[in-house]
Amino acid sequence: MLTPARTAAVGHHRITLASETDRAGWRDQARALLQRGVAPDRLSWTVDGRTRDAELSLSAPVALPEASAPPAPAIRIAAPLLALIDSALLHRNPDRFDLAYRTVYRAQTVRDLHRNPADPDVLKLSHHAKAIRRDIHKMHAFVRFRKTGERAGREQFVAWFEPDHHITEAVAPFFRKRFTGMDWLILTPEASIAWDGERLSFGPGGNKHDLPQQDGVEAEWRSYYAHIFNPARVKVAAMKSEMPVKYWKNLPEADLIPAMLERASGRVDAMVARQQEALPLAGPETRSAAEPPASLDQLYDRLEQARDAPRENFSDRLVRGSGPPDARIMIIGEQPGDQEDRQGRPFVGPAGQLLDRALAGAGLDRRQLFLTNAVKRFKFRQSGKRRIHETPNAGEIAYYRWWVEQEIRLVDPRIIIALGATAARSLTGKPVTIARRRGTILPFADTRALLITVHPSYLLRIPDEQGRQVEYAKFVRDLEMVAGYASRPGSG
Ligand code: URA
Repeated sequence: MLTPARTAAVGHHRITLASETDRAGWRDQARALLQRGVAPDRLSWTVDGRTRDAELSLSAPVALPEASAPPAPAIRIAAPLLALIDSALLHRNPDRFDLAYRTVYRAQTVRDLHRNPADPDVLKLSHHAKAIRRDIHKMHAFVRFRKTGERAGREQFVAWFEPDHHITEAVAPFFRKRFTGMDWLILTPEASIAWDGERLSFGPGGNKHDLPQQDGVEAEWRSYYAHIFNPARVKVAAMKSEMPVKYWKNLPEADLIPAMLERASGRVDAMVARQQEALPLAGPETRSAAEPPASLDQLYDRLEQARDAPRENFSDRLVRGSGPPDARIMIIGEQPGDQEDRQGRPFVGPAGQLLDRALAGAGLDRRQLFLTNAVKRFKFRQSGKRRIHETPNAGEIAYYRWWVEQEIRLVDPRIIIALGATAARSLTGKPVTIARRRGTILPFADTRALLITVHPSYLLRIPDEQGRQVEYAKFVRDLEMVAGYASRPGSG
């Protein structure tokens, strides 16, 4: 990994890493340097083959200080800082290795440095990490494969993509997992990754024109896109931000967009006008004169005993909300599923696993969120040994509304995410068309905010891979909006 070259300039040690993505090399070197107490202003970091350092190498070499005699000072780098750096090092800014070293060096004497979001170094690392998350998200969403043929019974695909940062190797596990059943090669200007069903391999970058240009899969994808194109969802600015124009040239569907926009324009005006009607959001109505519970435990204890709760077709088990009782973000799902009912915790089954992945993709840590459901028991129908999910009806949702209101009051989140139609109905008291309301942060119950989006089980039901990928990317984007909102200053 690491090129041992340690040519140094006058007063300066120059550390040469093996490649732009040699994060392991940086970590090894940074630890060794910290141990020797080398100050960041006596160092510069570079990467093998970068030309801008030519003038430095003309200077006379200077030896690095020897490691202090044992015992060496203990090096402390907090895990969250290391994670932040690990992400930020994929940024294309040439000074990122210096920035990262300066920060870990300072962190040896400044307690909890990484917890200070206003610190200029931490802030810059955070900006880098955010740019990386966005770049990775775009690559997940906008890589389009072209079929090139078949070999040994396996279909073969290639794709071209131009990431902004050094993320190609970092996204490889995502594509291996997602497209595990086919052979593929993703080529970018600076690196390539390939999967043959058994092994991921990494290679040099290349040129778009090395790849075949048309195929049948692409035609299918274009027709799928034309089919799902919804003129009511057309907001050109928003569309450009979700699918920035620089990606259009590599998207087979992108050249359809102008014509579709033109054809749709008559319908767009009317539909956009309707879209702008305000959602009549109100705090949930109070249905019970009962004294409000003083704690979440009291709330769930009382609900477990409540005799008027709907019981027909429901499991007896009440699934309590879970997460920090003062979380800034609250997620409300529909109702517990089979796994949640068995384990007594929300979002632990397949939908919960997908939600976890999307939260992580949006930079949210599930452990910091409060997760609960609009309806607190599993409604199902028995079919042989299987318990098949049944959607709760309006009366059942309304029954639990008061209890959800109490949960919100006690947790006091700054923003609530409603996953799917049942949660949205629970909060607004009305049927809500998710497609019309998603993707915008709405004011809710005076002091809070609400984001309505799809339920992860909807994503699990989308039959085709590409469609699922597009919807998943939109879901992550919705969650990213919440992450941005919750981290704004003054957000509680
Ligand atoms: N779906 C939900 O809405 N909630 C859960 O807890 C699990 C799946």
